[in-house]
Amino acid sequence: MKSVMSCILNRRSVRAYMPQDVSRDNIIQLLTAASWAPSGNNLQPWRFSVVMNNKDLIKMLSSLTIFHKWAQNSSCLIAVFLDTKVVDSKIENAYLKHTQSIGAAIQNILLAANELGLATCWIGEILKNEDQVRELLGVSDDLQLMAVISVGYSNNVSLKSKRRDVSENIISWL
Ligand SMILES: Cc1cc2nc3c(=O)[nH]c(=O)nc-3n(C[C@H](O)[C@H](O)[C@H](O)COP(=O)(O)O)c2cc1C
Repeated sequence: MKSVMSCILNRRSVRAYMPQDVSRDNIIQLLTAASWAPSGNNLQPWRFSVVMNNKDLIKMLSSLTIFHKWAQNSSCLIAVFLDTKVVDSKIENAYLKHTQSIGAAIQNILLAANELGLATCWIGEILKNEDQVRELLGVSDDLQLMAVISVGYSNNVSLKSKRRDVSENIISWL
C-alpha cells in the first residue's frame, strides 16, 4: 500500500486517458473514501452522480465543459453535489463549512484513486453549466453542483506540476 504522503506528492491532474474501463468496485472505493471525509457537524453534505459504462452519456456530460476533448475519453465521470437541504441557517457559516467538507471529500477521491493506480482530474470549469448538468443527470435543483471528476487510466506517463516553496505559504509561526 502506498503511503498517504506518496499519494499526495505523486497525484497529478490527468488530462489524457486510455480506453480501458474502470471497475465498479474501484468507483465504490473512491466514493467510500469520499464518504469518510470530515464534515461540519458530520452532516456529510456530499451527493454523487456516477456516469460509467455509457459512452454517450459521458460524451454528453463532457460536452458541457471546454475540456470535453479529453474528459470524454475518461472511463467514468463523477458529478459531486452539495445537498442544500442540509444547510441549516441556524449553524454559523454552514454553507462555507459544507463546501469545505465537499472539498475534503473530493480530495479523498483523488488520493484514493492515486493509490488504486487510477488517474483523475477535478473539473470546476463545468460549474458554469450547472443547470444543464442537473438536467442531463436528472438531479433535483436542491442539489448544487460542486465539481465533476474524471476518472480513468492515465495515458500520460510523466506529468509535472509546480508549487511555491512551503516557506512562502507560512505567514506566521509563533
Ligand atoms: C476547484 C478546482 C477546479 C479545477 N478545475 C479544473 C478544470 O476545470 N479543468 C482542469 O483541467 N483542471 C482543473 N483543476 C485542476 C488544477 O488545474 C490542478 O490541480 C492544478 O493546476 C495543479 O496541478 P496538479 O493537480 O497536477 O498538481 C481544478 C482544481 C481545483 C482544485
